[in-house]
Amino acid sequence: MTYTPSTYNPYDFANRRHIGPSPSEMEEMLATIGVASLDALIDRTVPMSIRQMSPLTWEPKTEFEVLDHIRKVAGQNKVMTSLIGQGYYGTVTPPAIQRNILENPAWYTAYTPYQPEIAQGRLEALLNFQTMVSDMTGLPVANASLLDEATACAEAMTMAQRVSKSKMTRFFVDENCHAQNIAVMKTRAAPLGIEIIVGAPNELDAAKVFGAIFQYPGTFGDIPDFSAQISALHEAKAVAIMATDLLALTMLKEPGALGADIAVGSAQRFGVPLGFGGPHAAFMSCRDDMKRSMPGRIVGVSVDSRGERAYRLSLQTREQHIRREKATSNVCTAQALLAVMASFYAVFHGPAGLRAIGERVHFNAVRLAEGLRADGFNIAPKAFFDTFTVEVGAMQGVILRSAVAEGINLRKIGKNRIGISVDETTDAQIIEKVWRAFGRDAEVPAAIPAVAVPSKLQRVSEYLTHPIFGMNRAEAEMMRYMRRLADRDLALDRTMIPLGSCTMKLNAAVEMMPITWPEFNALHPYAPADQTEGYSQMIDDLSAKLCEITGYDAMSMQPNSGAQGEYAGLLTIMAYHRANGQGARNICLIPVSAHGTNPASAQMCGMKVVVVKSAANGDIDLDDFRTKAAAAGDRLAACMITYPSTHGVFEESVREVCQITHDHGGQVYLDGANLNALVGLAKPGDIGSDVSHLNLHKTFCIPHGGGGPGMGPIGVKKHLARFLPGAPVDGAPDAEGAVSAATFGSASILPISWAYCMLMGGEGLTQATKVAILNANYIAARLDGAFPVLFKGREGFVAHECIVDPRAICEATDTSVDDIAKRLIDSGFHAPTMSWPVAGTLMIEPTESEPKAELDRFCEAMLSIRAELAQVETGEMPKDNNPLVNAPHTVGDLVADWDRPYSREQGCFPPGAFKVDKYWPPVGRVDNAYGDRNLVCSCPPVESYIEAAE
Ligand SMILES: Cc1ncc(COP(=O)(O)O)c(C=O)c1O
Repeated sequence: MTYTPSTYNPYDFANRRHIGPSPSEMEEMLATIGVASLDALIDRTVPMSIRQMSPLTWEPKTEFEVLDHIRKVAGQNKVMTSLIGQGYYGTVTPPAIQRNILENPAWYTAYTPYQPEIAQGRLEALLNFQTMVSDMTGLPVANASLLDEATACAEAMTMAQRVSKSKMTRFFVDENCHAQNIAVMKTRAAPLGIEIIVGAPNELDAAKVFGAIFQYPGTFGDIPDFSAQISALHEAKAVAIMATDLLALTMLKEPGALGADIAVGSAQRFGVPLGFGGPHAAFMSCRDDMKRSMPGRIVGVSVDSRGERAYRLSLQTREQHIRREKATSNVCTAQALLAVMASFYAVFHGPAGLRAIGERVHFNAVRLAEGLRADGFNIAPKAFFDTFTVEVGAMQGVILRSAVAEGINLRKIGKNRIGISVDETTDAQIIEKVWRAFGRDAEVPAAIPAVAVPSKLQRVSEYLTHPIFGMNRAEAEMMRYMRRLADRDLALDRTMIPLGSCTMKLNAAVEMMPITWPEFNALHPYAPADQTEGYSQMIDDLSAKLCEITGYDAMSMQPNSGAQGEYAGLLTIMAYHRANGQGARNICLIPVSAHGTNPASAQMCGMKVVVVKSAANGDIDLDDFRTKAAAAGDRLAACMITYPSTHGVFEESVREVCQITHDHGGQVYLDGANLNALVGLAKPGDIGSDVSHLNLHKTFCIPHGGGGPGMGPIGVKKHLARFLPGAPVDGAPDAEGAVSAATFGSASILPISWAYCMLMGGEGLTQATKVAILNANYIAARLDGAFPVLFKGREGFVAHECIVDPRAICEATDTSVDDIAKRLIDSGFHAPTMSWPVAGTLMIEPTESEPKAELDRFCEAMLSIRAELAQVETGEMPKDNNPLVNAPHTVGDLVADWDRPYSREQGCFPPGAFKVDKYWPPVGRVDNAYGDRNLVCSCPPVESYIEAAE
């Protein structure tokens, strides 16, 4: 008998690892849908008029080939010790945090905690972050979190304008702010008509501004006492903002004690790697009376259905983008995972540890400076925390080169100064190397030098006094704390997360591995270009692939979230119009079904939003669009559309919408959040769009991290390329403004998307798109009889997601879509997107990564909920006491007296729930109204912990 080798390819990443359903499962699913083949389904779903004619070109690689290739490219980045500072510092990520949080899918695959019952773990970690920020800055309310320090400064500036009683339109910026902060504030100010005055703090004329921002410590190390300026601002009813550094605040008087109203900064140096610019969590804290104007998310404390303490996102409607064109900020995805890491860093070290780290940094900085002073160098300023500058005259180049030869990057300032910022990783060896670069050969004295912080600016108040920051810090205890919190949450490592528009697809382990390699995560964003060639190669290749996928001609990797991409893309359009002498164009047409960030971003660009209606079938109402475009006429700047639409349908009219916009001189912004339904099948750039953001954290596998990180690069057609965002630091003089603190945004997570593209190959990516559409149609077909599918294409199919409509049955049973969402928790599921884009409905997006068994588990859970609704409808079960209104069921419910008209078994183990691996929500239904009425945004007082333990 001849031996027949297997044709099975175990290394086929696309079909064996990334795509969920097996070929035989796909056959069964197609049979359920009633279509002969996958291609037949695609032909009947995706209009021929938009289909791309040629396939994506590159071949797939195996997992080990990809890792090998990425290693080689990473090897072209030179890992140096960075003493550049300027807002980015070396830090030691405690290995336990790296392994248990950053590398742990239980943490990094979670979604934003909008469903609080299944998110108590990350909500607690984020509350710890808020408490830490609030304590360190001395201001009572903090958020969690913002995109980077520069955008946090810009958010603070616009917040100041909102809360200030001054009628002025000018805003003062301390010239000692980091250059990237000034650059991004300038970008944000221009379209809003805010005039920025950059100057020395002692030149501030408080009566002429609505607010001012000071950097503390300044970019060159100064730590002036800003109390006089702050008092003057308050007298003029203006707002005082301090951009600050959490580690410095272990020794320096906190902004709140100096009278500041708002503090912002980056939590990067609390254990989050440099990452060539990100991702890092920025923070903001403020006075209590300003909290309702704060951008971003605030975690708060409420109670659950049993009166137990429960966390939730407070004032959710305060999340600005929900207010659409009335929004004052578009922050949506931010940097939750990084905020979690920073909060654990604080829990890990506690106040004494942080103080010791702060002092170590300070004393090493003083030792370094004193050594140079002893050799005759002129050091400024006299008082500093960790940063100072050295006057070096014509020796600048030689010293910088000598430092590089020692493996150290110093900061080049002008033509004759060098800046040095000491960090947690700086030791005697590094100090001696720096000295050698300056020509000094000496040993570092062990003696503790005199403190270089004037006594009136030394911190006297305590911080991190809450017991959470005083717990036993043995790694055993810490590991268990991280595990306990992770176990409270439902993330992708336990269940599908069928959130429409969020694309919670697989974040494969192989894609995640490179992000913790030092070649990617230990580079400073402003490191010399000859040290970052690996990054350039990766970014060029990824950009080329994304251009091929989208049909665009150029990419900017700067925006670090989808909403930030929208903002950057619209700015690009506005700059284009200005360059063509059409600066008066400011109207942006946006369909009513658009995501809230679209109108929020448009208004931040100074655009006037005109809302376009939806037709009965969910498509853009073409007549309304035509009328409004014509009415806008030569004031039409852009339209913003999402394709396939947020209703989950490939609209046939998309080319016409683009044409109408172009006919009136406008530009088309196509929101790329749904690109995962297009990759390999259709290209936005070929359909007629001019610019899109790509959510790399959706379509291209960057995990959601419980609410960030994200990356929202924008692709543009050729005519817009020269208007893309410029570099935040040392940009070309004629470049457009920067939108983020770092040129390539959150660069260190780009290897994830790059690896994904290489692993899948063009064909694999296209297959993934097809299977995403198959999975959505399978769910739609299985649920349609029970919950009507709201919108379908011409041939009766949905795109990559579907909206199911329980409104009629909810009305008949006095239940709500919320009850369905909470009941799904009992089955071990994260709910689909609720009430968006249509109130009272559920939008389900399974993604291509879910195998048939998981889709079936979900459908069975949904169908059993429908059966329970029927029991309520027929009166078999009372309206006020049934499994839906009582959901989710906790262990507390199970062991308490059972006064319910259904069994414990039905309540706690509905279809879909695993018998052995049952997920038990740690809290019952969270009371939202209570939480908003009793706003508590930092860790509850000690007594409540004692009560909880009793
Ligand atoms: C259609 C759409 N556009 C834009 C965004 C905003 O993206 P991000 O959350 O990355 O800012 C989202 C986020 O869910 C979205 O669904």
